Amino acid sequence: DKGGHKHYMAKEIAEQPHVIAEAIRHYLPVGDDMVHLPGDGIDFTKVQRLTMVACGTAYYACLTAKYWFEKIARLPVEVDVASEFRYREPPITEGTLALFVSQSGETADTLAALRFCQDKADKIVSVVNVPESSIARESDLALPIYAGVEIGVASTKAFTCQLAVLLMLALKAANDRGEISAEDLADHVSGLRGLPNTLNTALEQNDAIQQAAQHLSEARDVLFLGRGVMYPLAHEGALKLKEISYIHAEAYASGELKHGPIALIDQHMPVVVLAPRDALFDKTVSNMQEVMARKGKVLLVSDKDGLDEARDGTWITIQMPPIMENLTPILYSIPAQLLAYHTAVAKGTDVDQPRNLAKSVTVE
Ligand code: M6R
Repeated sequence: DKGGHKHYMAKEIAEQPHVIAEAIRHYLPVGDDMVHLPGDGIDFTKVQRLTMVACGTAYYACLTAKYWFEKIARLPVEVDVASEFRYREPPITEGTLALFVSQSGETADTLAALRFCQDKADKIVSVVNVPESSIARESDLALPIYAGVEIGVASTKAFTCQLAVLLMLALKAANDRGEISAEDLADHVSGLRGLPNTLNTALEQNDAIQQAAQHLSEARDVLFLGRGVMYPLAHEGALKLKEISYIHAEAYASGELKHGPIALIDQHMPVVVLAPRDALFDKTVSNMQEVMARKGKVLLVSDKDGLDEARDGTWITIQMPPIMENLTPILYSIPAQLLAYHTAVAKGTDVDQPRNLAKSVTVE
């Protein structure tokens, strides 16, 4: 049942305010500002290092979480794609918490990486959408994301629910380790609780994004730029576009542009810049101006302050509501997903069943 939508992907994008509210309610029960974990939970005072392993979109959720765990909880984090992790034979030292993120819980490489860690890490934790899955069952602790069944091959609501759960986990780590003030914790908690509303406001940009996608669908290649906590989302935006529209897309940290990829820029190259008005915004604007000086077409996604400051010379703008910096990757997932979705629809591809892809990759 597509619930009146043309595709499961559209339905799943639209469901995000609701499912994220579910996820948040399970970990942050109403009336309590402490993050609660199921079962024995995790005592982060004993954790010295976090090793995160996943594939595809779940890997980009891990990369985003690295920014949170390091910045908010001051906990060192390593992130790896599952297909590389095990073969590198990484040393797993005492005090390591191994964290596996998987929507299906059946991804062969992620499961193999989990088994590699089983007698080496202090604790194996997974963040999964399917609680009965192999990865959940073989973990010491499984943290459900409550996204509900995801049918579209391109992951959308599972990604944002993974992010919400990982951010709550980072807040728990920060609190256990005494790295966050009560005030800062309360700010994050109220930001999270307000998130479903903010996501609804972002979804109202659907028509504007659909129009932008008409133009994007004519491109052969697209670049995505982001920096800081938005850099992994640039990768996720590029992956989404590749998967369903078959347009070649790549992501770079904004500051890396001048170290090579700027050579690609000409009037045929759309560059999607995911840039809320944050502490690094001015630097991103100067990267963007380098693109425009070479006739590159900038599609800027930002908030009102950011657009007021940097709209001049851009090709297309999409406005997001303002939100605290650590929540921007969750909010800006909406335009990234909708842009890919509408571009694919404009190209007439099979959005829910893109060629060559399977929902669950159970071979290594
Ligand atoms: O089920 P998993 O989260 O372990 O799947 C990992 C990847 O195969 C998955 O995220 C894939 O990249 C999606 N098609 C992304 O949209």
